[in-house]
Amino acid sequence: MNALIPFPARRAMRPAELPEPGRMSSDKFISIEGIARRYPAPGGKQTTVFENLWLPMRRGEFVCMIGHSGCGKTTVLNILAGLEAPSEGVVIADGKAIEGPSLDRAVIFQGHALLPWRTVLGNVAYAVSSRWRKASRAEIEERARRAIALVGLAGSEHKRPAELSGGMKQRVGIARALSIEPKMLLMDEPFSALDALTRGTLQDEVRRICVETGQTVFMITHDVDESIYLADRIVLMTNGPGAKVAEIVENPLPKDRTRTGLHRQPGYYALRNHLIDFLVSRSKTLRDESPPGYDQRHPPVVRLTLTEADAAAAALG
Ligand SMILES: Nc1ncnc2c1ncn2[C@@H]1O[C@H](COP(=O)(O)OP(=O)(O)OP(=O)(O)O)[C@@H](O)[C@H]1O
Ligand SMILES: [Mg+2]
Repeated sequence: MNALIPFPARRAMRPAELPEPGRMSSDKFISIEGIARRYPAPGGKQTTVFENLWLPMRRGEFVCMIGHSGCGKTTVLNILAGLEAPSEGVVIADGKAIEGPSLDRAVIFQGHALLPWRTVLGNVAYAVSSRWRKASRAEIEERARRAIALVGLAGSEHKRPAELSGGMKQRVGIARALSIEPKMLLMDEPFSALDALTRGTLQDEVRRICVETGQTVFMITHDVDESIYLADRIVLMTNGPGAKVAEIVENPLPKDRTRTGLHRQPGYYALRNHLIDFLVSRSKTLRDESPPGYDQRHPPVVRLTLTEADAAAAALG
């Protein structure tokens, strides 16, 4: 039976507990610093999707972002990828401001965007050859084959995208991203178009690979359980326009958690209820009215206490 060790009571981290920007260099691998995104609106006005957004990420950390449609999640990811520039603010990656796309940051989109005329091996090898331009053909193929094997596609190297299922295509997209050994992996709802069984298998594989390789990941999802399974921290965005980071929720579940055993982990129900409650109501109320003492630069950090359902689940476990 699991021992019932209560988590520390929910608390908001005081600004004084957080290091100042620029002073976390050993720990702060990627740092979103005060970014805004505005678009021109009718009548010469501007729509602010979000503004003054701050988020530091540590090396090897898996961060998930959750929020309703239109709050600006993909925009944040595009800015991290260097595909889009912020209207204000800056993103620092490994000590340097992001000024455009880089092979240091690989993106996995919902649509896998494979080259239809190339085989699985050809698609992955193409990415490898753009990363290591002077590598020999044999070296490129070796790296590509390793990445393909990592996502469980060994034996399908010579198939073309048209011959693959949706799940297999997404695996190729993941292999391609991992093959260039990016410093950061960026994923925009990568599993949302897949059936539940394939989604579960791919979540397992992505988690295994990321834990084994210490990959730093920023991922967008609408799936609360997916974020609980994969993320070390879950960033909650309020509704837009004028979206904000409402809270950063720390995942208290053990690192060796499994997808199928999540619901038996002490703390699972408290975490799940907190995230759902945010999506159902607080994502709107927190946009319209910030809690006292709220500081966009240091959003509250939340760690949850056990619920009765958790206590019951733990007693059964
Ligand atoms: N080129 C553009 N011109 C004007 N508005 C834009 C443009 N691109 C995005 N937007 C607006 O910015 C907002 C944020 O878009 P974004 O795609 O980042 O949202 P999202 O949180 O990823 O939503 P979803 O969950 O539906 O993917 C939306 O309201 C969108 O209409
Ligand atoms: Mg999006």
